[in-house]
Amino acid sequence: MTSILSSEGRDLLFREARSHNVWTDRPVQDESLRELYELMKWGPTSVNGCPARLIFLRTPESKERLRSSLAPMNLDKVMTAPVAVIIAEDLSFYEKLPKLMPHAPGMREYFSGNEELSRSTSFRNSSLQGAYLIMAARAVGLDCGPLSGFDNASVDQEFAKDELFPGGEIRSNFICTLGYGDARKLYPRNPRLDFDEACVLL
Ligand SMILES: Cc1cc2nc3c(=O)[nH]c(=O)nc-3n(C[C@H](O)[C@H](O)[C@H](O)COP(=O)(O)O)c2cc1C
Repeated sequence: MTSILSSEGRDLLFREARSHNVWTDRPVQDESLRELYELMKWGPTSVNGCPARLIFLRTPESKERLRSSLAPMNLDKVMTAPVAVIIAEDLSFYEKLPKLMPHAPGMREYFSGNEELSRSTSFRNSSLQGAYLIMAARAVGLDCGPLSGFDNASVDQEFAKDELFPGGEIRSNFICTLGYGDARKLYPRNPRLDFDEACVLL
């Protein structure tokens, strides 16, 4: 049987979900972050490469490490959020292909020998996984505030020294704040393009 998402579910994921910048005091449990990952990991990526790596900043001290890299307009949004996650990409994602795509043993060498292809694959698919993260967060009841207004190279330099993912070559893609948003602080929602402006049926 094909099941489809209820109207309530569609509201939760899309129609009523907003990008939040102001947060309530309700903390985010680690369990919710695990639950979120256990959903988002199933989103599809090229060759099942799963290039995204996530750095969850859950403490004021860890978020402080972003301070000097953030665009001024994003500073308070990040510092006041219960959690900020750096959606990063592992440029050496192909090293894990023997686990992720065991039936195609040549894939690791295919990507390791083609830097341009592996970089575009990594960026495209880590961006997709960032979108899956947003939808998974909403599915577990969290609100999100995605941000790209920061200096990626500066964030990469700050976190590279930690060796968080040994053997990986980690670069930040974008940041997403997570928490329980204060809906009273939202500005009126902006429109989207209509079907005929954004789509053609050929
Ligand atoms: C990849 C990405 C980067 C964004 N960067 C920023 C940012 O740097 N600062 C900011 O305030 N909002 C940022 N936003 C939030 C968008 O402006 C917001 O998602 C959009 O206006 C839709 O708002 P809505 O979800 O409330 O309808 C970003 C969103 C995405 C998806």
